Amino acid sequence: MKVYTEKQQFVATINAFKEKKQTLGLVPTMGALHKGHLALVKKALKSNDKVVVSIFVNPTQFDNKEDLIKYPRTLERDVELLKTVSKENILVYAPSVNDIYEGNIMSETFDFDGLELQMEGKFRTGHFDGVGTIVKRLFDIIKPNKAYFGEKDFQQLAIIKKLVEKHRIPVIIVPCPIYREVSGLAMSSRNTRLKPDYKAAASFIYKILTTAKEYFGTKSAQEVSKWVEKQFLTHDLLKLEYFIIADTSTLKTVKRKTKNKKYRAFIAVYADDVRLIDNIALN
Ligand code: PAJ
Repeated sequence: MKVYTEKQQFVATINAFKEKKQTLGLVPTMGALHKGHLALVKKALKSNDKVVVSIFVNPTQFDNKEDLIKYPRTLERDVELLKTVSKENILVYAPSVNDIYEGNIMSETFDFDGLELQMEGKFRTGHFDGVGTIVKRLFDIIKPNKAYFGEKDFQQLAIIKKLVEKHRIPVIIVPCPIYREVSGLAMSSRNTRLKPDYKAAASFIYKILTTAKEYFGTKSAQEVSKWVEKQFLTHDLLKLEYFIIADTSTLKTVKRKTKNKKYRAFIAVYADDVRLIDNIALN
């Protein structure tokens, strides 16, 4: 499996596939791959001739410098994992920061019709400008037929759909379900940084989400949110940053439930210094 680190050679290779009318899927990642990422890659392989997995720890989407420094970088292991999925049809694009940003590590500024102002956008300033910048550049370089994004980062997925719509980028965005550990903990590259007791404690997050879903059937969004906040007040190892029930189309906090609308619960929690996010469909 070839790992491309430089744009020109990589683009020449994918252009040769395109000339042969082969379809191209893209799975953008920041590496430290796990089964959640591999599920996206497997899905992409089912409906594309070739799949590009990009591995790039994008500096502009980190509002916290420490998080960027500590982000796991495991390229060799990532490539070995991808080989277990397909040796022939995956290309890895792992560019340098300079290959992408050409000496100017700056985000573009985006208007995602307010989606960027909710939740992660509130707590991680500039994060979605960074995500928009890198994903737009990857679409530009690769011009894939389809691109795959996990519902684990539901707000990111909504924002990418908006990016594509607003900038008229000819790519189909394919959402993929959240892949979980047996304990219920959503898989994340950050999980490798969890000390064992914190990792065990973190399974509480999914338990809370499933109970919240159950309660949402009979209680108001405010009641459910208050209940969740209370559960974390006395928790020794986990610190709640936010729990929000939002309309899936606007991502705005729901005040009053309306029939025919789709709702989702979103949560961000600190386990020690590791920030974890998760979400669940409520109806
Ligand atoms: P990263 O966190 O590496 O995730 C890459 C893709 O894998 C994202 O679409 C994410 O939603 C998906 N993913 C991660 N964990 C998952 C899980 N447990 N189940 C299902 N899908 C999961 O998200 C990013 O990287 C970056 O922001 C990126 C889009 C690459 C831009 O830099």
